[in-house]
Amino acid sequence: MRILTVGGGGREHAAVEALHRSGAEIYSIMKNANPGIIRRAKAYKLINERLIDDICEFAIEHDVSHAFIGPEAPLEIGLVDALENIGIKCAAPTKDAARIETSKSFMRDLVSKYNIDGNIEYAVFDNAEDADAYLKKVTHEVVVKPIGLTGGKGVKVQGEHLRNHDEIMAYVLEILGSSKSSVIIEEKLVGEEFTLMVFVDGRHISPMPLVQDHKRAYEGDVGPNTGGMGSYSDADHLLPFIPEGVRDKALSILRGIVDALNAEGCPYRGPMYGQFMLTKNGPKLIEINARFGDPEAMNVLSILETDFLTLIKEMAGGKIREDVKFRELATVCKYIVPRGYGTVSESGHEICIDEEGIRRSGAEIFYANIDMIDGKLFTGTSRSIGIVGIGETIEEAEKRCEDALQYVTGDAICVRHDIGKRELIQKKIDRIKNILS
Ligand code: AMP
Ligand code: GLY
Repeated sequence: MRILTVGGGGREHAAVEALHRSGAEIYSIMKNANPGIIRRAKAYKLINERLIDDICEFAIEHDVSHAFIGPEAPLEIGLVDALENIGIKCAAPTKDAARIETSKSFMRDLVSKYNIDGNIEYAVFDNAEDADAYLKKVTHEVVVKPIGLTGGKGVKVQGEHLRNHDEIMAYVLEILGSSKSSVIIEEKLVGEEFTLMVFVDGRHISPMPLVQDHKRAYEGDVGPNTGGMGSYSDADHLLPFIPEGVRDKALSILRGIVDALNAEGCPYRGPMYGQFMLTKNGPKLIEINARFGDPEAMNVLSILETDFLTLIKEMAGGKIREDVKFRELATVCKYIVPRGYGTVSESGHEICIDEEGIRRSGAEIFYANIDMIDGKLFTGTSRSIGIVGIGETIEEAEKRCEDALQYVTGDAICVRHDIGKRELIQKKIDRIKNILS
């Protein structure tokens, strides 16, 4: 079966590997020359992933029947609507359904309109005076975000990135002024974050293992927000700090959202990503993404047992099976990123990789924002390479990931080595015990 893939990051490389295992013929669109995708693709084109007409032309030229779209940017401008118009089935949401990610106010309003659990206090502003008055009134701490897509980097949290009213207002003004976006001010949640992703066929959902990502740039979960520095999952598909019942609550929130999108006349197809904070009042919604998470896709697709191509077909036009199977193994993913990632990245440095060494360590490599030029690999401004260790326990998976990291060398690269380590996970377990007691 011929399938179009869009996107050139670690998430898309992981999806391409899963499709390759399924025997798919792969035709890829990406903006950077990702060597992992290029080696699996029958044909590929290096263009911006928002060039809808060119992507449709490429899809027609190669006679693809289905499409997998990794990143959110093409969804926002209606790539799925355009592909469906020319008869290509997509395991990804239409422009209308993707608003669940592309407009943070659409998501919050929908959850509130349909009385779905997990919502939080929020308010949306397009002028500074009203925002100022609101901030003077509220008694809780806040988080400030642009309404639209931010690549995970536009969110500032009071007490971490914003110290006082003046700093909050300065950021509100920056969003309203420079990006000409509305601003959403949310209640700050305190707890531990986790990711629950589901496969959706428009109506039914089927869950993937829980994963915990690490959004902060530096070790110890401090520093600016990033797209995600690394993530882990456990062999039982839960997380060490998640008490029983929390996963089911999160799942019912996602089910509620899928039902609400249906009721609004924009049924959702494709992977859906729920980011939750486990708080003393149960799991609360941080955001919904209209796609796989990155890095989380690398964790779950590395242990996916069910044929991925079959899942794509089920999401795109059939009924998703209830029992999507994953191996009962733990995974730890650490992203190698260019120095400065999260603020100003130092890009364009050569990076050397011994893939054989990585595999011998019991890990997988997923190329991300890397460019292959004359057979050599160079870092871009975003995350470079994901290394996923797989093992019976998180400890074993983490060790394999660290062993494999030795086989990647280069200048001006960084890794958060603390991800998946026993000490950091224990801190999270203790924190949740405290919060819930
Ligand atoms: P987002 O891009 O909305 O996923 O936000 C990026 C990161 O900011 C999240 O992973 C959280 O760590 C933090 N964040 C976002 N919204 C909130 C909130 N309401 N309360 C606390 N932290 C938040
Ligand atoms: N891991 C966060 C995201 O994919 O948005």
